[in-house]
Amino acid sequence: MKPDTAALEEAARRVRANAYAPYSGYLVGAALLAEDGRTFVGVNVESASYPLTTCAERGAVMAAVAAGARRFSAIVVATASSPPAAPCGGCRQVLREFGPDLLVVAVNDQGERRTFSIGELLPEAFAPDTVGGDLPRGTP
Ligand code: THU
Repeated sequence: MKPDTAALEEAARRVRANAYAPYSGYLVGAALLAEDGRTFVGVNVESASYPLTTCAERGAVMAAVAAGARRFSAIVVATASSPPAAPCGGCRQVLREFGPDLLVVAVNDQGERRTFSIGELLPEAFAPDTVGGDLPRGTP
């Protein structure tokens, strides 16, 4: 069953205002829904040392894993782009770590929406089973 992403979209749009992007001016908000019902948010955080910038999606994943969540059903990414921007390649890889079925929803403030699965965004992925079978996905 597809998760209801209305609240998740609102969370991603709201947190986007907290993005720290003084160099690019491109604000990104992400909201990640865990299967246990918790929502984790992230924003892009840029650095004067440019390559150290972290993306919003990865921020949300790091917060979720630190809180003990490893099973996810959906992520919403909010940007100002039209059409709404899908996650970058690096974030696709990080999201794919936790399974191929994650629903990825890209939105903007004009109400445009694009939906994908992470498996569709990153086909033929280098994944946990590539390097030796299923990794434990439960909370330790
Ligand atoms: N960015 C994200 O937060 N997520 C993506 O998937 C792509 C790019 C950020 C990084 C940088 O702060 C800004 O957007 C412009 O690339």
